[in-house]
Formats: sequence, C-alpha cells, structure tokens
Amino acid sequence: MNRQSLIIDCDPGVDDAVALMLAFAAPALELLAVTTVAGNVPGRLTQRNARMMRQIAGREDVPVFGGAERPMKRPPAGAGEFHGPEGLGDLEPFEPAAIVGDGPAANAIVDLVMRRPEGSVAVAVLGPMTNLALAMRREPRLAERLGPVVVMGGARSEGGNITASAEFNIWADPDAAAVVFGSGCSVVAFGLDVTHQVRATEPRIEAIEAVESEPARTATAMLRFSQRVERTVVGWQAAPLHDACPIAWLMAPELFELKPCRIEVETQSDLTRGHTAVEFRVDAAAARHHWAVKADGQGVFDLIAATLGAAA
Ligand code: BDR
Ligand code: CA
Repeated sequence: MNRQSLIIDCDPGVDDAVALMLAFAAPALELLAVTTVAGNVPGRLTQRNARMMRQIAGREDVPVFGGAERPMKRPPAGAGEFHGPEGLGDLEPFEPAAIVGDGPAANAIVDLVMRRPEGSVAVAVLGPMTNLALAMRREPRLAERLGPVVVMGGARSEGGNITASAEFNIWADPDAAAVVFGSGCSVVAFGLDVTHQVRATEPRIEAIEAVESEPARTATAMLRFSQRVERTVVGWQAAPLHDACPIAWLMAPELFELKPCRIEVETQSDLTRGHTAVEFRVDAAAARHHWAVKADGQGVFDLIAATLGAAA
C-alpha cells in the first residue's frame, strides 16, 4: 500500500479529537507529526489535548509539537462553548506521559516537508492556519515543496458559524489563511458547505460506540458532547463533524465531490473578516484550489467505525 505522508495541524477541540483518532488508526496514512495551535482553547491546552489523544490511541511514535499561541495579527479567539473549557468536552483531563517535541510547530513543518521528496507530504489544517503561514514565512520554498494542503475552513453557500459570512478557523486568523491560500500551494478546502452534510446522527454515534476500544470510547464521548451542545446552543439535532472531513478525504476521496476554484480570504473589512470568496470561473486544469461541495455523510461515519473497528 502506498501510504500518504501527513502532518496534522490542529486545535483539539472535540471534532479535532475524532479526526486524530481516525488518522491514528488509519493504515493508509503515515502520520509524521501532530502540530497544535491556539484556537478552540489556548495553545497549552490544545498541545496537551493532542498528547492525550496520542496516548489513548497508543501512538507515542508520532511526535507532537506545540505551535502559535496567538494569530498573526489579532488577539486570540476561542470556542470553549462548543468544546468545553478544557477543549475535550467533559473528558477528564490528564497529563500525558510522553512530552511535547522540541521546537515550535512551524519549524517542525518546515523540517519534515523539506527533508522529504517534493509533493510527498500532505498537511491537514484543522484549526486556524497560523502555524502553516509562519512556516511559509520561515521557508519561502515550502509552498512549492508541499503535497496537498487539506483544510477544514471557510463557508460559501451555508453562510458562517462565527459571523454571518465567516467560518471560525478562517475568521480566527484570516491573515494566516490569506498567506496560505495566496502561496501557490495546492489547497483542498472543506468548509461548512460540506461539513454540514456530515452530521453525527444517533445511529452513526451508536455504530462507533459499538466498537470496543479506548479510541472508539473517546470518539463517542466527543460526539455525544457535541450532540448536547448542538441541541442546546444551535438547535440542530445532530452536530456536524467538521475536522474529520479532510482526513476522510485523504483516505477515501470518493466520499466527496470537489470543484476547482480560486479562494481568497477577506482581511480588511471587520464586517466580513475571514469570509472565503470562492470563484468557480477558473481554468480547471490550472486551478490550485478545490472547494468541497458534496459529502457522503454516512460514508464518512462508516469509514470512521470501520477504521476504529479494524484497529481495535
Ligand atoms: C471549526 O472550528 C472549530 O471550532 C472546529 O474544531 C472546527 O475546526 C468549525 O468551524
Ligand atoms: Ca478544529
């Protein structure tokens, strides 16, 4: 099997945690590192939470590097309402046995990508894009060396979830997102248009709950917490599982439909800060960006249950 080399940059976060459990269990992915950023909760918590997930998954072979404590130009935001004060819902926090890797996330991304063949390392960004933008600033050749950058972020037809027109990850650090989308690297974006099609309905949660393993129990706890928040705060019955989408696409691209496009991020206006302008009138063959428009929600959940089940 040709395994896809991958770095996951994230801000766990309950849906980041499910995405990590999926990636840790996926034989098709060669996970080189997990890097963390301040986002849903402060950086010291996202870094600890990633190490907690690594320990629960039994994947101490994968290094975790802590990254940016704040966005490039703006004060830190947070989404504790959706993730709990510690970032992992009501999971009891603990200090993991294995420590964090040496040096900041941006350095780790540069080192891991530049040391490997051109185009061979994918980066999944599941939080604000600060670390990858800082890495690009540090190493100007990074963008042309990267494999696909798969991103949970942005909103078009669904509208925003933090403002009328912006999705949280892009809104939190629009300047970083503008650097990444403007860098010339290939980006596949999974925005709210598609993550809202991947919802954790009760039978889908139960299928994961039926897997007897610690990673599956943890994923179930994350999904149940999100379900409660979604019902009380948003008013929907089933919560979207945003961050698992880019990981699922790397494993099973047939679960999604993408459209070639050009994406630009609003950084000037306060009103539309972080809006993703998605232009489909492009030369498809030359397009560097793709926007996910359709997802097989049941297929994504089947993939998670099957992957966690096979690893149990
Ligand atoms: C994104 O924002 C975060 O709260 C989630 O983890 C996800 O990455 C959804 O807008
Ligand atoms: Ca996230």
